Amino acid sequence: MVSSILIAFVFVGIAATRPPSGNGERNLKVLPKDISNADLDSIMDAYSRQLNVSCDFCHADSKVNKNDLDYASDDKPEKEITRQMMRMTADINKDYFNYTIIYKAGEKMAVTCFTCHDGFPRPEMKHEKKQ
Ligand code: HEC
Ligand code: HEC
Repeated sequence: MVSSILIAFVFVGIAATRPPSGNGERNLKVLPKDISNADLDSIMDAYSRQLNVSCDFCHADSKVNKNDLDYASDDKPEKEITRQMMRMTADINKDYFNYTIIYKAGEKMAVTCFTCHDGFPRPEMKHEKKQ
């Protein structure tokens, strides 16, 4: 169990190295503004794996090229929900387990998205599946 979570964090993707759209600044409200591409990739891959979804679950289609995603866009509600989830997860780690989350690849924390989500976009789906 613990090892699968660690693997989710060391898995390195490639897509996030694409340049952000618009004025060149990233649209980050929770992650550090100066986050490296490698750390950003690693965190995005971890979210995708821990919820068992693809990038397009949270990221809207590009208006320029339909085959592409516009990672900076906030058009999909799932992205804003995720920001809330990130804040909550950081708070739980800090307030109850003494881990201050700094959003680095492979970062150790007590509670991750996987703790609740366990490979489902919504945690209650694991129970629905059993019935
Ligand atoms: C569960 C939701 C979720 C999934 C899945 C997800 N992302 Fe994200 N992504 C976010 C959120 C939320 C932010 C903004 C974080 C912030 O505001 O600090 C973000 C930001 C980004 C950014 C920075 C955009 C900018 O403003 O420059 C990139 C690039 C990115 N994601 C790529 C990816 C890739 C590639 C994948 C698939 C491997 C992926 N994401 C999967 C939620 C998600
Ligand atoms: C303490 C448990 C817990 C943790 C930790 C947690 N979540 Fe959630 N998350 C939930 C619950 C419960 C729901 C369903 C809420 C509902 O149905 O209204 C949810 C819903 C969501 C949704 C909306 C899914 C949908 O289909 O509407 C997203 C996206 C999400 N979480 C992303 C994340 C990400 C990314 C992380 C890690 C940064 C995370 N969550 C951490 C409990 C958690």
